[in-house]
Amino acid sequence: MNVQWNTIDPHGGKLIQRELTEKARKQYLDMCESLFSLTISKWIASDLEMISNGGFSPLIGFMGKADYESVINDMHLANGLPWTIPITLPVTKEEAGQMKIGDEVALYTDEGELAGIILVEEKFEYDKHQEAKLVYKTVDHNHPGVKKLFGQGDIYVAGPIHHINKASHKPFEKFHLNPAQTRKMFAELGWKTVVGFQTRNPVHRAHEYLQKNALETVDGLLLHPLVGETKEDDIPANIRMESYQALLKNYYPTDRVLLAIYPAAMRYAGPREAVFHAIVRKNYGCTHFIVGRDHAGVGDYYGTYEAQEIFSQFDPVKIGIKPLFFEHSFYCKKCLNMASLKTCPHTEEDRFILSGTKVREMLRKGLIPPLEFTRPEVAEVLIRGMKLNDKGK
Ligand code: ADX
Repeated sequence: MNVQWNTIDPHGGKLIQRELTEKARKQYLDMCESLFSLTISKWIASDLEMISNGGFSPLIGFMGKADYESVINDMHLANGLPWTIPITLPVTKEEAGQMKIGDEVALYTDEGELAGIILVEEKFEYDKHQEAKLVYKTVDHNHPGVKKLFGQGDIYVAGPIHHINKASHKPFEKFHLNPAQTRKMFAELGWKTVVGFQTRNPVHRAHEYLQKNALETVDGLLLHPLVGETKEDDIPANIRMESYQALLKNYYPTDRVLLAIYPAAMRYAGPREAVFHAIVRKNYGCTHFIVGRDHAGVGDYYGTYEAQEIFSQFDPVKIGIKPLFFEHSFYCKKCLNMASLKTCPHTEEDRFILSGTKVREMLRKGLIPPLEFTRPEVAEVLIRGMKLNDKGK
């Protein structure tokens, strides 16, 4: 029997692919030496990769003014598709002065690798205050996204891109799957419904609770940790990746979970980034997406459930992926179970809640946090990883 799997459409209907064929790539490699070359940050290099691999479909390049303004003001692309985060290429005024409209510009990583090429279609000035206020809801430079914004060049250069040399994701190459590959794997695995889970942290008991609750109703889980740029005090991706593997091996039905990396940078844009994360996971083939408490938040810039409330401002058909909302979850000493504000009748004193800072402190001292908070296998990896990391500094 020929089985027809239900696949979810990419955002905008078509999965974008901006990697060059081998022949075109060779031609560009020869040509690039004669082009103006621009060094891009790790953040921009990861955006280039995400555009190229189709994760940011329907974008085919860095945003022009019409899309940029529509995104920051109305949370939609100029063509009316939901999109909440500007994807832009900032350059200095001097750099912009050296590029003409119609030029192709070679994009090099900060390690001197040729990453890609952009056809310059537009150059425009933008208002950093306005972007910060609209996207991050604050102009406070202590916010990592705002700090980044104010530190970057004053001109945006826009136009379609091509990826020339694929980014290396050592030591995670095995987990490096592009959206076309995850889609194919879901089909092969027979998963009609897949829930995506974004994380920039080790998976603790609360995360596990959300994922397993979702797994009760969908066919598979895409555990999709962000491995692009994060803020200094987040746990490094290599340590986290090891901890996810220890967790999956010991506590998950491995035939129902796919662990793959999400190469983009973390914006910490709270509600707007939650919508963005959901749309990108749709491109990877997920049908559902988990949004818990303070998704993609930092400090106290966003309300606990703002990242859930924002979805009501969009046409669910246009978003096209179903967000699964979860209340704040914790271990309850009276329920003797993981629970949430929705399911637990007991008081705050009965809840086992540890702050991220407290947990990091314990791990640094080599102490395993209580079982109610984290799995010991995960804690062991984190303790070992943090020791090695501290030595390397
Ligand atoms: S994020 O910045 O990548 O969103 P994190 O890795 O901490 O951060 O969270 C991943 C997902 O789990 C997010 O959807 C977040 O809202 C959710 N989450 C984290 N902790 C809890 C919790 N205790 N209760 C409910 N949801 C949570």
